[in-house]
Amino acid sequence: MPTVEIDGRKIEVEDGLTVLQAAERLDVEVPHYCYHPGLSIAGNCRMCLVEIEKMPKLQIACNTRVTDGMVVHTTSDKTKVAQKAVLEFLLINHPIDCPVCDQAGECKLQEYYMDYDRQRSRFPLPEKVHKKKAIPIGPLVILDQERCILCARCTRFLDEVTHTSELAIHERGDHCEIDLAPGKTLDNPYSANVVDICPVGALTNRDFRFQARVWYLERTPTVCGACANGCNIEAYHRRGQLYRFQPRANPDVNQYWMCDAGRQSVHGLQGEGRLTHPLVRGHEEFARATWSAALGTVAGRLAEVARAKGEGAVAVVASAEASNEEFFLLRAIATHLEATVAGISWSPADAFADDFLIKADKNPNTAGLRAQGFDGDAGAVFAAVAAGTVQALVLHRTDFTRWREAADVRAALEKVPYLVVLDTDQREVAQFADVVLPLATYLEGDGTFTNAAGRVQRFHSAVPPPGDARVGWLVLTELEGRIAGTAFSESAAAVFDRAVKAVPAYAGLTYDAIGEHGRPSASA
Ligand code: SF4
Ligand code: SF4
Ligand code: FES
Repeated sequence: MPTVEIDGRKIEVEDGLTVLQAAERLDVEVPHYCYHPGLSIAGNCRMCLVEIEKMPKLQIACNTRVTDGMVVHTTSDKTKVAQKAVLEFLLINHPIDCPVCDQAGECKLQEYYMDYDRQRSRFPLPEKVHKKKAIPIGPLVILDQERCILCARCTRFLDEVTHTSELAIHERGDHCEIDLAPGKTLDNPYSANVVDICPVGALTNRDFRFQARVWYLERTPTVCGACANGCNIEAYHRRGQLYRFQPRANPDVNQYWMCDAGRQSVHGLQGEGRLTHPLVRGHEEFARATWSAALGTVAGRLAEVARAKGEGAVAVVASAEASNEEFFLLRAIATHLEATVAGISWSPADAFADDFLIKADKNPNTAGLRAQGFDGDAGAVFAAVAAGTVQALVLHRTDFTRWREAADVRAALEKVPYLVVLDTDQREVAQFADVVLPLATYLEGDGTFTNAAGRVQRFHSAVPPPGDARVGWLVLTELEGRIAGTAFSESAAAVFDRAVKAVPAYAGLTYDAIGEHGRPSASA
């Protein structure tokens, strides 16, 4: 294990680590453009030059391995001169775009200029080489060739991660430019990752650009709910509005990446059609109700049906869009009512999948559904509903019409004397409900999902639910309390702690242990 000294501080590191990685462990910033931990080392930008004692020339920290006894200086005079020279070189042909560039706030050229350069350019403006600007190169990405610093992060991503090679560096010298390979467009399922890794404003997201200045946005760590992979992401939001998702590094789940479909799923979470108020059916029409009144009605009626008609008169169906905490509370309620429980994990028959991140299962929590015994036959419950033997039905985040022929569903639901729908959006089943309870999405509350690999991962509240909609566990703990007389759980963590005691798959887990990178469940 070599020991290296960086700026006067020593650290022992494993063989093979680079100077840049060793510096990161000491929280020493070595500025860099082309290095990215998820890609091969290119060593082309020279921004990471450092002084290493006994070496005659400055060395690039991203491609120099640590050796025992090495002494490195990242802030010496020689290093500072090199940093200024590299920045001056990169800026010679860079356009004066900063005031109108959407990368402002997360541009490494701006940031390093302020941190390491701050000198006036010695090159006259009219002599800059001009290249093409604002070229749409795919459904999600816009290219500005003038802003590119030719770090080759984007081309390495497309060569090494997606193996699609849509972009390439063309020409020579100061005419070098990034452009599409002949006949290609940047439209692979992971295309927008190039925007995240481009250190400047050369590649921007067509969907997000000019929507918001990033310094106004807040970030919440969470997970993507658009398929069973559960990629770790950050949700960017402001004043209750979601703006974008970006991947959050997790080597055990998604490395540094996410797919375009997951990224775009941000738009489906706050659209029109959200349920915003508890609704209770009067003689014909729905009327808005308070939560207290709606839950009181539901609890009273379900308990009455269970008491009068006995085991199996009430049925509870949950989908794999629910959280582990919701499954636990639904099961507790069902046990008290001697209800039948069943689960549905529905995805389109032609759902896209690959052998990298994207799963054919477009639900975030099928593994959690199974772990808590909701793999009962929803088909049997549906048949019982259609036969008129179910006296009260609870549909939790479940749209039967996505799973069965709409006409069959309508005919079946018309036979249910009492239907309770808990959901985020107005879906067709709500038309048949006696009570509709509006729920938060997974961006609007706390909880956990279990991904396809059996990893339990936390999600967090980033934005408030619309109107009077409430977080699912909060609704269910109150319903459980009203039906079974149990004390309300005060947080998602408290519900999870209860689930840990009852569900073998969660043995040994706590919210703190799960942290922001998840933990494998016992069933993983
Ligand atoms: S477009 Fe961005 S990521 Fe690609 S080479 Fe240029 S600066 Fe680097
Ligand atoms: S692979 Fe799945 S979990 Fe990951 S970003 Fe795409 S949809 Fe979301
Ligand atoms: S980061 Fe080292 S040469 Fe670019």
